Amino acid sequence: MRASWSSLAAVMMAALAGSTVPVFAAPLGLPPVPIPADNPQTPAKIALGAALFNDTRFSADRKVSCATCHDPAKAFTDNLAVSKGFNDLTGTRNAPTLLNAAYMTTLFWDGREPDLEGQSKQPPINPVEGGLPDHETILRIMRSDPTYVPAIREVFEVEPAAVTITHYARAVAAFQRTLAAGDSPFDRYYYGGDKTAMTDSAIRGLAVFTGPGRCVSCHVIEQTQALFTDNRFHNIGVGFKRIHGKEEKIAAEFLVAKKGGADVDVAVLTDPDVSELGRFAVTESLTEVGAFKTPTLRNIDLTAPYMHDGSLRTLQEVVEFYDNGGRLDPGDPLSGFLSGGIRPLGLLPEQEADLVAFLEALTSPGVAGTPSSVLASQ
Ligand code: HEC
Ligand code: HEC
Repeated sequence: MRASWSSLAAVMMAALAGSTVPVFAAPLGLPPVPIPADNPQTPAKIALGAALFNDTRFSADRKVSCATCHDPAKAFTDNLAVSKGFNDLTGTRNAPTLLNAAYMTTLFWDGREPDLEGQSKQPPINPVEGGLPDHETILRIMRSDPTYVPAIREVFEVEPAAVTITHYARAVAAFQRTLAAGDSPFDRYYYGGDKTAMTDSAIRGLAVFTGPGRCVSCHVIEQTQALFTDNRFHNIGVGFKRIHGKEEKIAAEFLVAKKGGADVDVAVLTDPDVSELGRFAVTESLTEVGAFKTPTLRNIDLTAPYMHDGSLRTLQEVVEFYDNGGRLDPGDPLSGFLSGGIRPLGLLPEQEADLVAFLEALTSPGVAGTPSSVLASQ
């Protein structure tokens, strides 16, 4: 088992290390990927990171790797409402795609991690993800695996005994910084000047997106690039109803636990009520209860179901959700809590269909996955 896994890692690492693909090339519609000064990209580091990303030994049942929930064949998601970790334990949140995560200025739905290096250390030791008690298992394997040892010597110039979790985090982050995906029909139409790249319906949908839909105010499109996120946090009313009326109690109990040393990563992924606190878990500001990070919309057709709780199954359902002004009835006093822009839009059925066609035009070539309409009918 172990031998065969190691040979798989060796093949992957050889394939990637020998690759001549430039490490920093930014696809059409995207800026260059930001690379931290203390973690430069090298082909060998990226190859090591790819192998670590796929290593199922870094989990309590030896079955869960990063790729379990961020599957390259599913546009780096799991297509589940909420993810399943070791022993099939479920968390509280939907796994975001890792495509273009390198551009995010904060990570996770509540932005609790500032960078990919910090983020990578969490899943293996989260009790509903990897389920390991600490990072020792990872270090033991990295220090002894016949494929990893020479790779680590080459990449970091350290001997096995000196391997730390920082080396692991840097390699996994370097791999994720290669996952930039642009050059979609939208990019070719908007930035490449190819007026035939999008269908007429998608072209009309772009006008709804930037006009009456007001989507662009949060899912940003700029003059030379589009990340489709403002990297900010908004309460658009996805899960607020679930905790409303008890949010102050949940928030107060959470703060007591946090001050007592409770791990925020564990709390938000194991308790559905605490998960709904959103950005509050980080800032402790009551105005940010229920606020979540604006996700990218690139490759959105392949990453269903949607929202932090995976509660919307198709792009049509998402568009209807926004058209209704969130999950609340018009006039509901709760709607005062929602972010600006979230109010009934009064879109015509054709405008909704065009908006869906536009969202479907954000899929990059070469990204593997199943369209949301097909998933919903399965
Ligand atoms: C059990 C499923 C599971 C595993 C295993 C897992 N993730 Fe995730 N990942 C998630 C979920 C769910 C979220 C959202 C959690 C949240 O926001 O609180 C997430 C969020 C992320 C994000 C943030 C993306 C963004 O846009 O903010 C990154 C990056 C990420 N994971 C990378 C990894 C890496 C690297 C590994 C392996 C070390 C990994 N994940 C393992 C389920 C998983
Ligand atoms: C006020 C800012 C804001 C506006 C306006 C807005 N969004 Fe969003 N969008 C968000 C946030 C925040 C989320 C995540 C919310 C959550 O999960 O609680 C989101 C989630 C989504 C998702 C799901 C993404 C995923 O990976 O699950 C889609 C699709 C989407 N928005 C499309 C649109 C469209 C289409 C419009 C216009 C009709 C729009 N958005 C308007 C902020 C906004």
